[in-house]
This record gives sequence, C-alpha cells and structure tokens, in this order.
Amino acid sequence: MKKPAGPSKKRSPATPQRPDDRAAIAGAIARYAGNKGAVIPVLQEVQAALGWLSLETLAAVAEGLGIPVSQIYGVATFYTQFRLKPVGRHLVRVCHGTACHVSGAEKISEALRSSMGAGDGETTADGKFTVESVACLGCCSLAPVMMIDSETFGRLTPDSAAKAVKEF
Ligand code: FES
Repeated sequence: MKKPAGPSKKRSPATPQRPDDRAAIAGAIARYAGNKGAVIPVLQEVQAALGWLSLETLAAVAEGLGIPVSQIYGVATFYTQFRLKPVGRHLVRVCHGTACHVSGAEKISEALRSSMGAGDGETTADGKFTVESVACLGCCSLAPVMMIDSETFGRLTPDSAAKAVKEF
C-alpha cells in the first residue's frame, strides 16, 4: 500500500541546510560584494570553507551577489578548480605529469581505482577519500608520485600505492 504523502521537506534551492554553511557564504559575500569580479573569489572562499559547491550553495551565492544563478553556474563549471561534487575527508592526488606518466602513473591510478573503487574525480563510498589526477607535484625524482593530503608517497608501485591508501 502506498504511504500518504506528508508535508514536503523540500527546501528553497537558495537555502543551504547548515547554519555554518550559510554563515560561510554570507561572510564571503560580505567581503567581496560590490567588487567587480567578485564571483571567483567568493566561490573560492566558499569552497575552501565547505569543501565543494552544491547547487543550493551556488544559488545562495547568486542571490547574495545579485547575479543570475546561470552566470554563477557558468563560472563554477568553467574552472576546474571548483568542485561540484562532495569531496572525501582526504584528498588523494595522483601525479600524471611527464616524469610520473613515463614511470607508470596510469598503473597507479588503475590500482587505486580497483582497490578503492574510486577513479579520477570520484569519492569512495565511505566518503573517506576523493581521488584526483593532477599535473606535476614538484618531486619528479620520486616518480611515480601521489600525495594524500600533505603527505607525499614516491617511487610507487601499484601495490605500494594501494597499501598506502589502505593504511592511511
Ligand atoms: S611529474 Fe610527477 S612529480 Fe613531477
């Protein structure tokens, strides 16, 4: 039997759920509102505080800056620095720069994909890790390299990369 429909729990798309989120957005907007070119610094600051930019966050930024949400969305999707999906508690960055590429970076990424179940740009089901392929991490002599948050792992093999993530 079908349950009767209860009251709608839908929120306005411009109303982020958590008070902390709303405060972070309001703070960023207050700092940059009125400045030409406020959109990118506001989005950067909000992303730094919240980890990613949901549609409701983009709508709240649009409302706060008095700019159409389509324009905010256009900026957020144009620049790869902005994350439009939730991120894990730890960021795994796998280097695919030239030195790492020729030293087997693709095999490292494959090993992580099969051991963690998350490929480039994806987050593990438990929300612990987000994986990203990046360009040079600045320690080419250790290729192939990955970083988990600020910790560097070099001279990786597929097995050692999977082990490093498992033990982190
Ligand atoms: S190419 Fe990977 S660290 Fe430089």
